[in-house]
Amino acid sequence: MLGKNKSYLLAGFLLGVLLSTGVFALCVRHFNSDPQNGGSGLVLKLGHSLDQQHPVHLALEHMAERLQQKSAGTVELQIFPNGQLGSETECIEQLQRGALAMTKTSTAPLESFLPEFSIFGVPYLFRDDEHAWRVYTGEIGKELLQKGSEVGLRGLCYLDAGARSFYTVNKPILKPDDLKGLKIRVQESQTAMELVEALGGSPTPMSFGELYTGLQQGMVDGAENNPPSFYSNRHFEVCKHLSLDEHARVPDILLISESVWKNLPPHVQQWVQEAADEAAEFQRELWEEKTAEVLEDVQKEGVTIDHPDKSLFAEQVKPMVDKLKGTPVGDLVNRIRELP
Ligand code: GCU
Repeated sequence: MLGKNKSYLLAGFLLGVLLSTGVFALCVRHFNSDPQNGGSGLVLKLGHSLDQQHPVHLALEHMAERLQQKSAGTVELQIFPNGQLGSETECIEQLQRGALAMTKTSTAPLESFLPEFSIFGVPYLFRDDEHAWRVYTGEIGKELLQKGSEVGLRGLCYLDAGARSFYTVNKPILKPDDLKGLKIRVQESQTAMELVEALGGSPTPMSFGELYTGLQQGMVDGAENNPPSFYSNRHFEVCKHLSLDEHARVPDILLISESVWKNLPPHVQQWVQEAADEAAEFQRELWEEKTAEVLEDVQKEGVTIDHPDKSLFAEQVKPMVDKLKGTPVGDLVNRIRELP
């Protein structure tokens, strides 16, 4: 006979095994295939909020192809775009519960789960694209990708999301003062709220999927995003002014549920990581070309593009950045600024 304590221990252990395999089965579907190379035949589901023509979605499709090739058809990446599986915050939560295998999200909503990620919302932090990429692929970027495991999320790679700028329904933003009295949609991020507030606007958090209707129905007067997202979600149909003030470079990130990751055989983990890295390379090359293309396209659709003096905006948000001194995010700001 087992003692009472030992029976509890055994029951707890069995429950743990059941839960972890159950969680795995929930979001990773095995399928019948003829596995070669020792692959086990499985489907990984990935949810994200962007449209199918967006360069980030194209990169995820590239990842699916690479994974299919590497695994000789035994691992399938099934992509659900356009917020079909929920908002970015909801997808992150599903990963934590193990109800969804993967998501591609902006790093902005991730800061509610891991405060260090607010670093990417710090305005005018990166000098240019090259500087930003040195951070994503360098020591700091890697440290942050690993942080995710503390909250059940494994970071695979960053994807370029360029620089974010304001766009409005009917008023050009040429200086911070022009934002006064305007309701501006922001991501679900405290840093994004602070930024818009510091510039004089009224920040209104809303999921990306709700934004088109929000703009159309006058719930907000404008928003801020990178040009490919402004274009692919057709916000240009409602907003006729785009001001390239480029206040923040907030990258996207590809996450996999830590519980799913742990249950993948090491060779599958390697395929997934390699395919993610290749998707990031692919997307980095595509980004600049697509951004230039959509800026042309939106002008043809009647959008006026302005190039305001960025130093006016940077000056106004300086107290927000200075306030970070002596905090862990402030230390990251210093490390990033010191990078060549
Ligand atoms: C960017 C980002 C998306 C995000 C969107 C937003 O476009 O790539 O992942 O959903 O910003 O503003 O919500």
